[in-house]
Amino acid sequence: MSSYVYMKILESQPERYDRGIALMSLGGADRCKKKLVHENVRPGFKVLEIGCGTGTMAILAALAGAEVLGFDVSDAMLEVARGKIDDSGMSGRIRLEETGVSGMDKLADDSFDLVMSTLVFSELSHDERVYALRHAYRVLRPGGRLAIADEARPETLARRLAHSAIRIPLLIATFVLTQTTTRAVDGLSDLVLEARFRIESEERSSLDSFLYLVARKEEKE
Ligand SMILES: C[S@@+](CC[C@H](N)C(=O)[O-])C[C@H]1O[C@@H](n2cnc3c(N)ncnc32)[C@H](O)[C@@H]1O
Repeated sequence: MSSYVYMKILESQPERYDRGIALMSLGGADRCKKKLVHENVRPGFKVLEIGCGTGTMAILAALAGAEVLGFDVSDAMLEVARGKIDDSGMSGRIRLEETGVSGMDKLADDSFDLVMSTLVFSELSHDERVYALRHAYRVLRPGGRLAIADEARPETLARRLAHSAIRIPLLIATFVLTQTTTRAVDGLSDLVLEARFRIESEERSSLDSFLYLVARKEEKE
């Protein structure tokens, strides 16, 4: 999963993004999206996806019976998503908006059953992460869930060193090719707790560099 640092390169070629991610993660990215949807989406749910990219997970959620609002800053990624959504026959269930997390303040309180996101928090600044989590909490109905999967900073020094050995050359290559970078998410659980969520589960990959976290907004505050 450490090869997720290549995401930025793929995003600069959105039409190749799905194939590239599938190849580099050996199908892991798609498996993760299916798992997240299977475990958290129920028919009739209203779902918000932060950074929906090419729409893969939004389509899975819609196929599972949800109504999805997906937003993303990249018009090029959304253009690919629009084509895939049309092909899937799910356009009646999915709405897309071109906006960044800064646009979340326009969403109504308590209006979603689930807020989900994969491979996006690693691209956000610290302030954007805090902002996105604060608004995720606000827009979720009481008892609603937050589900995030992303590249994470390993917790032990030995694993961090091993991870850096792989990641630093990839970060340099990414920056040379795209002038952008990603930051493995550090301390996401703490940020989620600070946003007042109760964490229900946290799973880490065997190399400790990928995190899948599910949290809940309390029923009563
Ligand atoms: C690596 S892609 C992941 C796309 C999709 N979620 C997936 O798992 O395939 C990261 C996505 O986050 C989007 N993104 C980056 N910064 C963002 C922001 N501030 N607000 C909304 N989307 C953002 C990018 O445009 C891109 O589509």
